[in-house]
Parts: sequence; C-alpha cells; structure tokens
Amino acid sequence: MTTGPFVFAMPGSERQGRDLADRLGAETGVLETRRFPDGESYVRIVSIVAGRDIVLVCSFARPDDQFLRLVFAARTLRELGAARITLVAPYLAYMRQDKRFHAGEAVTSAQFADLLSREVDRLVTVDPHLHRHKALSEIYAIPAVTLHAAPLLADWIAANVERPLIIGPDIESEQWVSEVAGRAGAPYVVLRKERHGDRDVEIAIPDLGAWAGRRPVLIDDIASSGRTLIETARGLIGQGMRAPDCVVVHALFADDAFAELSRLAERIVSTDTVAHPSNGISVAGLLADALRDEGAAG
Ligand code: R5P
Repeated sequence: MTTGPFVFAMPGSERQGRDLADRLGAETGVLETRRFPDGESYVRIVSIVAGRDIVLVCSFARPDDQFLRLVFAARTLRELGAARITLVAPYLAYMRQDKRFHAGEAVTSAQFADLLSREVDRLVTVDPHLHRHKALSEIYAIPAVTLHAAPLLADWIAANVERPLIIGPDIESEQWVSEVAGRAGAPYVVLRKERHGDRDVEIAIPDLGAWAGRRPVLIDDIASSGRTLIETARGLIGQGMRAPDCVVVHALFADDAFAELSRLAERIVSTDTVAHPSNGISVAGLLADALRDEGAAG
C-alpha cells in the first residue's frame, strides 16, 4: 500500500509539481480547476486522499489570482480526510510590504502570512524576501522552512562565467551576494539603491574601473518591474563596464521588463521558482531534499 505523500500542483505550478514528484518518487495527485463564466473558481480533488500526507505546490507569481483557489483546494483536501498539508511555495509572495511606510497602509506580509497559516500545516519556500522580518517565524504561525538558492546560483556562475565580479544592487542583497561570491570564489560589490516609486529606482554605482577586466554578474532575489536590474545594468555599461550577466532567483519580470533587460544584459538566467523563459537553474532537488529531511516525503 502506498503511504508516501501525494504531490498536487495548483494551476501555473504544474511543471514544478511534476519535477518535485519525480525527485521524490511520489505520486502526483489529480486536481481539477476551472473558471465559471462569472469568474468564480471551480476546484475538485479527484484523487483519494484520506489519510495521506499532501504536498501542495503553488508558486505565487500572481498571488491575488491564486490564493482563493489554494484555500478551496486545501480546505477540500482536509474535508476529504487528508493528513498533513505541506505547502511548497517556491516563490512566496507578499514579503516586501513588511512595514507601514505611509499612514494607513496594509502590512500585507503579516496579513498574507496569517491567512496562509490558517490553511496549511507547514510551508517550504525558497529565498523569501526577508528584510525587516528576519525570519518567517516572525509572521507565520506554522512551521516554515526557508531554503536558499545561493549555492545553486554560485555553481552556475562558477561553471559559466569567466572572471566574474558579483554585484548586488542594494543593501538587502548583501546576504545572498556575499554567500554567492564566497562559493564562486569571486569578488563582490554591493551598491546603494533608492526607490522613489514602483517603477522608479535610482542606483548609486561607485567607480568600478578597477574591475574593468571582469564580467559583472548582477544578482537579485526578485526581478519584478525589472527596474532594479535595468538601471544597474545601464549604469554599469555607462561606466564602460562589460554588459552584465543577470542571475535572479524569482523571475517575475512584469510587462516588458524582460525584453528591456535583454537589450542591456549579456545573459539573464533565473531559477525555476517562477516559470519563465529565463529559467536555467532548477530548485527541484533543493525542495525534494528539504521535504525528505522534514519527513514530508513519506
Ligand atoms: C528589493 O528590495 C528586492 O531585493 C528586489 O531588488 C526588488 O524587489 C526588485 O524589484 P524591481 O524588479 O521592481 O526593481
């Protein structure tokens, strides 16, 4: 009798779900979703889940669209007798509004954490944007495992870039940039960023002339509007540096950000936490190892 977990993938996370199930040697559960003509969601759990541990994969690239269906799926799994539900969110959304910057703003990092904590038993994610919150446990009421893609980024750089200079665009990036640089055996620089609006960032770049013979490699956890990477790439090229390689964990790339960055960058590569044409670094092994260690793999 099979006692291992069922891996269910929410819409948009099917490939991540399949990769993870393959790595775990786990069964994939069958979940049907569709939209009613008025836009409401239909969700059906087809597999028999009574007594089974569940791994529910949902990468939150479009969280407002995805959250309600996730709630319907998780609640239905429980009603049908599923045992523990582990949410694997390779990209965890709503981590950046971690403070009331202006009076009256919703601190959505904490509110989203509270909502998700009510629906699943555990969370496994990759490089959540931890800045003012130092750990997920500050806002999540459930056990939450934070995995780091830095070693994977470092290994990609070591294998693919000659004489890299690792560059972090802002102070928050120092945590992963220093780790990546250490493992890749490369020097690093952290720049200063000022954000004036969603799509308006200013990057202060010191004179990097001493590193002119190296290939700049921009590292960031998230490419959202893409402005951070675009403005940094533009500034570097303006200084006479070589076109940078850009290596990101979560490739959201809204609107035409990817096309615009592609015109400046030598190469753009991302992990597959968010499905995107730039994906070149798989996190499936990282996730599978964590689930095995945590005993969610049966
Ligand atoms: C910010 O603090 C993050 O580390 C990223 O630099 C930021 O989210 C990137 O956003 P965007 O692509 O919109 O500039």
